Amino acid sequence: MPTANNTLRTTQIVQIRTESPTVKTFVLPDRLCCKAKPGQFLMLWIPGIDEIPLSIMDASNGLVSVSVKAVGDATRHLHAMAAGATVGVRGPYGNSFTESRGRVLLVGGGTGTAPLLFLAKLLASKTERLSFVEGAKTKDELLFVREIGGVCQEKNIITTTEDGTAGLQCLVTQPLASLLDKDRFDMIYTCGPEIMVKKIFEMTEKRKLPIEASLERLMRCGIGLCGSCVIGKYRVCRDGPVFNAAQLREMKDELGISKLGFDGSRIPI
Ligand SMILES: Cc1cc2nc3c(=O)[nH]c(=O)nc-3n(C[C@H](O)[C@H](O)[C@H](O)COP(=O)(O)OP(=O)(O)OC[C@H]3O[C@@H](n4cnc5c(N)ncnc54)[C@H](O)[C@@H]3O)c2cc1C
Ligand code: FES
Repeated sequence: MPTANNTLRTTQIVQIRTESPTVKTFVLPDRLCCKAKPGQFLMLWIPGIDEIPLSIMDASNGLVSVSVKAVGDATRHLHAMAAGATVGVRGPYGNSFTESRGRVLLVGGGTGTAPLLFLAKLLASKTERLSFVEGAKTKDELLFVREIGGVCQEKNIITTTEDGTAGLQCLVTQPLASLLDKDRFDMIYTCGPEIMVKKIFEMTEKRKLPIEASLERLMRCGIGLCGSCVIGKYRVCRDGPVFNAAQLREMKDELGISKLGFDGSRIPI
């Protein structure tokens, strides 16, 4: 039975913001996705090209926003579109991050920072302390620096770049070990490249800390039917994309190691 979420709605892009040389944010009116919670994703149809999964980076007042990195055919076509262009939307899909109180740490890499910013805005007034660690290859690719500064105190923000053009020159995982040893955290949320998520999960496991990670897998249907997003016994679109420590433990033979490709064969990550 089709549900309202699964019905493709056409809509027009009302605003496009350039976030970095490779990332743009697209704002769309949509009566269902505007009610999404942090962690959920939507399927965006780019007419004549493809339909792709994207994390929701903001949702309010009838509008939903997604931040998209140009990596291939569909995302490059989207980047070439102008305000007023027609796209299609399904969703919102998937589960959302739980709303932790106490001392919260968010760790984002690349466009994985987008759903964490959405979560940070929601948690800002509810937590005892909100800390954010963000990493990118270079300064120009550090996303939402101003927005993160608006929800977290400066002393609780750490930025890293691989080339040292901003913040610490290292991978985002490097300052984490001492941070996790020094401070008490009640929840760690993460989203980003799967290798990064795996390393962070290993760190939280070692210290017996709670974690919720948003995962990405190849997706076609987005609703649990096709199996292309399988990891362990889970389908990321239906059971995730947010997974807790117990679930991540069950998929540790695949997490950051391998995934299914578009032809169904297993490919290394
Ligand atoms: C739940 C979820 C949330 C995501 N959120 C974001 C986001 O907020 N911002 C963002 O920029 N990207 C996000 N992605 C990744 C995004 O879907 C892909 O970058 C996009 O589908 C690539 O399409 P393409 O045609 O431009 O590239 P392609 O030419 O198809 O491939 C380029 C690269 O993208 C990967 N990819 C291709 N298709 C998919 C797919 N359907 N699902 C996942 N990865 C794919 C390929 O492995 C390849 O490495 C998310 C993916 C998932 C599963
Ligand atoms: S994308 Fe089809 S089952 Fe998840």
